[in-house]
This record gives sequence, C-alpha cells and structure tokens, in this order.
Amino acid sequence: RRNVIKKCLSSPSRELLCELDRAGVDLADEIAAATPALSALSQAAMASILLAIHSLGFSILGLDPAAPAKGSAKPLPASALSDLRSQQFAVVPGFLTTEEVGAYREDVAKLRAEGRFKTAGIGETATNRVDNTVRVCEQCFIYPPQRHRGFGDDAARERLYATLDGVRDSLCQLTPLEPLLTEGLYAHYPNGGYYRRHVDAAPNNPSELRAFSYLLYLNDAWEPEHGGCLRIHTDGYGEDAPISAPESYVDVEPRGGTLVVFRSDTMAHEVLNTNAERQAVAGWFNRPVGGSGFRQTLIKGLGAAVALAALGKVAGGDK
Ligand code: OGA
Ligand code: MN
Repeated sequence: RRNVIKKCLSSPSRELLCELDRAGVDLADEIAAATPALSALSQAAMASILLAIHSLGFSILGLDPAAPAKGSAKPLPASALSDLRSQQFAVVPGFLTTEEVGAYREDVAKLRAEGRFKTAGIGETATNRVDNTVRVCEQCFIYPPQRHRGFGDDAARERLYATLDGVRDSLCQLTPLEPLLTEGLYAHYPNGGYYRRHVDAAPNNPSELRAFSYLLYLNDAWEPEHGGCLRIHTDGYGEDAPISAPESYVDVEPRGGTLVVFRSDTMAHEVLNTNAERQAVAGWFNRPVGGSGFRQTLIKGLGAAVALAALGKVAGGDK
C-alpha cells in the first residue's frame, strides 16, 4: 500500500487513485504525515500545491477545473471598488436577489441534511483544530466546484459560482487574482454561535495568498435582536485588539443578499454572538503564484492525491 501511494505521488493515474480509493486509504492522513516536509516549503510552493490540486488532479479525474460556471456574472458596483480602495472594505446590500438567497438557503439545508457540514476549526490544514472559545460554527467547503456534485442543489450552486466569478473579475481591477485559487464555504452558525476577532490571511502559510475575503449573507428574516453582526475592526490592528487605542469598528447586519468584501491581510473582523441561526457564504480570492518547474514537479503528485481527498472520493480531506 505504501508502494501504491508512492507510485501515485510520483506519477498519478486514475487507476492508481482508484486502487487507493478501493483500499480505503485516507489520503488526507498520508498528506498530513508529509506535513513537516510541506511546511518547510515556501508560501509559493504551498500555493502551487493548491494549483496542482486543481489542474492536475482534476484532469486525471476527467474534470475541467477552469470551466466557467454557467450563470450570469454580476459586476461589483463602482462604489464598492472605490470603497475598497479608500477604506479596504465594501458593503453592498441587495447584491443577491431574494430568489437567489432562497435558492442558496435551500442548497445549505439539503447539504446539511445530507451530512456534508462539519464543525468548523480554526487555522490552516496542518494546525487546524476545533476551538470553541474562538469559533462556534459548522461549515461546508464548496470549492473546488465539483466537490459536492450529486448533493444539495447543484444548479443553485452553479449560479453561486458564476456570481462569485463575476465578483472576482471585478476585483481584478484592483489586484491580479488567480481564478483556480478561489476558496469558499457555506457557514452555518447555530443559535449561540460566534467567531472571535481574527484576520483571514496570515504570513508564512498558504493563507498569505488571500487578497480579498468575501461574505454573502443568506438570512431571509434577520432582525436586530438576532445579533450576529459582522464587526469589521477599523482600528488598524491585527488579531489582537489594541489595549490602549480607542475602539473603532463598523457593524454589518447579516441580512440576506448583502455582500461584504474586504482585504484579507489587514482587516480584523469577528462575528458577534448570534441569537438565531445564521448562514453565509464565506471565502477568499487569492493572488496568482509563479512556481518554479522543480517545485511544480515535486508537488504535482501530492496535488492529485489531495484533489481526490478533497472530492470526497476518499474519507477525510476536509480542513
Ligand atoms: C470567516 C468569517 C464572517 C461571517 O469565515 O473567516 O470571518 O460573517 N466569517 O460569517
Ligand atoms: Mn474571517
């Protein structure tokens, strides 16, 4: 079995991947075992792992990761782009129609009923842990787009991908972004949920490539007493709240259809305690990476293996 894994990593093929699958090998574990080596790689190398996941892994599986989603892309309003330039965040109420919000809520409900949600952890893959002093939330990763095919409402999710493609295309006017490195998840906060102050992009790990964070709220009957606002800190500090600087923040109500975009590296934010179930699409648009040929070759095999795990062909693979 070790041999098959080795062969698969050096020259992955659909047959080998299927063999591993049949053997019930948890590729996520195998990758985790290789983590000391991986974490020694630079951020660019880690990022090319992600790229390889998409490009190589999916071509092996006969899927096209670069295929544009079917549906209509909506550009960001010009005011959102200028807000991002001047204050590093933008809020666009009513970006989604009520009908879209309803369709995505349905998708969430089905995916939850089908057991596709997991308790959310914090931190990157290698250090990921569930810590309910920081975050109480369930999540379901929705990238790569093939991930939950056959579950939930595929047609609805396809429209969501098209919409997110449009947001990303608009943001490219500010910073170049790599479409294949788009990340996203559905977040379900139970009544009593929260996510304490944090920053989405941290130096020296793959999250470093995140340029913009986005949120799309799916709550159709949100009322102020439900709480659960997104608090965007504008004090200029990171993860740790300043002790002596005055508090400075903007609270965004998580009303269905509202889009929020902010810079991932500078904007600390949190989800205030929610007194009702609270749902959102959350994710990140990443910068492109240039990887050297050597590194690409080194990690392509791993990429394929991770891709398979991410697709749920093999148990595990979730953050
Ligand atoms: C996140 C996050 C905010 C929200 O998932 O990183 O900050 O409003 N979510 O759900
Ligand atoms: Mn966040």
